[in-house]
Amino acid sequence: MNHNLSPDGTTGNFSSGENHSYWIDAVAPVEITTLSQDMETDVLVVGGGIAGLTTAYLLAKAGRIVTLVEDGLIGSGESGRTTAHITCALDDHYQYIEKAFGEEGAKLAAASHMAAIEKIASIIREEHIACDFERLNGYLFLFPGEKKQYLADELEAVKRAGIPAQWMDEIPGMSPADGPCIVYPMQAQFHIMRYLHELAHVTLNLGAKIFTKTRATKIDKHGAVCNGFTIKAQHIVVATNTPVNDLVTMHTKQFPYRTYVIAAPVPKGTLPRSLWWDTGDQDSKWVTAPYHYIRTQAYTNTHDLLIIGGEDHKTGRADEEKIPETSRYQALINWMRVHFPAAGDVVYHWSGQVMEPIDYMGFIGRNPGNENIYIITGDSGNGMTHGTIGAMILFDLIQDKANPWAELYSPKRLPMKELGTYLSEVMDMAKQYGDYFTEADIKSLDELAPGNGAILGKGMKRIAVYKNENGKVNACSAVCPHLGCVVQWNADEKSFDCPCHGSRFTKEGEVINGPAVTPLKRIDINAGKLQ
Ligand code: FES
Repeated sequence: MNHNLSPDGTTGNFSSGENHSYWIDAVAPVEITTLSQDMETDVLVVGGGIAGLTTAYLLAKAGRIVTLVEDGLIGSGESGRTTAHITCALDDHYQYIEKAFGEEGAKLAAASHMAAIEKIASIIREEHIACDFERLNGYLFLFPGEKKQYLADELEAVKRAGIPAQWMDEIPGMSPADGPCIVYPMQAQFHIMRYLHELAHVTLNLGAKIFTKTRATKIDKHGAVCNGFTIKAQHIVVATNTPVNDLVTMHTKQFPYRTYVIAAPVPKGTLPRSLWWDTGDQDSKWVTAPYHYIRTQAYTNTHDLLIIGGEDHKTGRADEEKIPETSRYQALINWMRVHFPAAGDVVYHWSGQVMEPIDYMGFIGRNPGNENIYIITGDSGNGMTHGTIGAMILFDLIQDKANPWAELYSPKRLPMKELGTYLSEVMDMAKQYGDYFTEADIKSLDELAPGNGAILGKGMKRIAVYKNENGKVNACSAVCPHLGCVVQWNADEKSFDCPCHGSRFTKEGEVINGPAVTPLKRIDINAGKLQ
């Protein structure tokens, strides 16, 4: 049955930023129908990315009555901006995870991600989903200047966690190929939008209801208000990258980062099908130690796409390293020219947002203080497996079954072993309120070039302005409606981004990412309030 998922025949015209990923551009957008009346359901899932859709699929398959609402289109949030590595090689590294959660905790973490790889493979097999799924090796190699001992320690921790990884002296496909590296067998990759599109079809065919362009603005234990209509539910799953139901608690336990991606053609057969990651820049000002992540993807008859990501920074704060958002791609290109010289010119570039939990593990389970509201968040750089683990855990919780990983991922936990990092990250976030006392980007609208945005004004009065190509100006309050930080202009994705908890807004001030659920307050520029 075709639920017709491409309303206007265009491709890639809906995403959480100005740049489109290869995945979004390659597949027609999935628009289903918009909610138009009050309704009741058993399970309400908010969010149509991999976490929400997999949860809806598993529960619908078990016979539950499921309704999913998505404020954009299927996969149009951060799922469509991933590079879709499906791996148990966690980017926070097992030697740290072991310190925070002990050997048993690290084993559970590894087991959960390995099980998620299997779950994705079994869904694809059972539902006959054509999405370029492949099993392959992953290689973890050293960031320049990092000692071999770091990799040796990581290998020991990885083995203790139960992953059959091995040491290699060469890095297949890389230039130079001088190792060492750790090889992780039986990792995987796929085309995320093909996977989500088919999964949406299958979930609809199982009887679930899916509403796109339907935003949940008020979520409580009774259900949610979506586009002004009420959906009553027994269980509510919030799978919105960062939880939009929670005002404060969860947003002190994780922090938003932007990450950047380029894609360039390479002649077929030049590179082995693999995943690659370096160990990251431990001297970076960001505690996440930004790293490079690489894969290939079938592209044309003659070429594959080489897809490289990295250059992360905290959302809204690229300038602190004096490398603006728009310059991050060039840094990736320079890196690619050294390590993958066969690559041609870049044909796609895009960025995405990643939520980094303070103690490396995501947050999956009952929202603190709620019995029937559940969250999946804190994906770190492992969103494909993490979103799938989230669905598996919530499936068990909603079905009243025990789950071996539920305690590890509990949103209630406090990061006691990482208390120092936690407090310094909270202080760092609090410092962002100091933006009220810094100079604005511009002093007058005359300084603003067409096609650009900026922050104008001084003191407590900050205005987010955008001038379109015809010179027409849109103005909003620059005060984030979540908890009052000043948003920053992101010239790359043409959005206003909040440096505190990662809310993002379009150039017109509409919400792209939570935790904010309401737009920036409009300002009438004709009322003479701008100057
Ligand atoms: Fe929390 Fe903006 S996202 S204040």
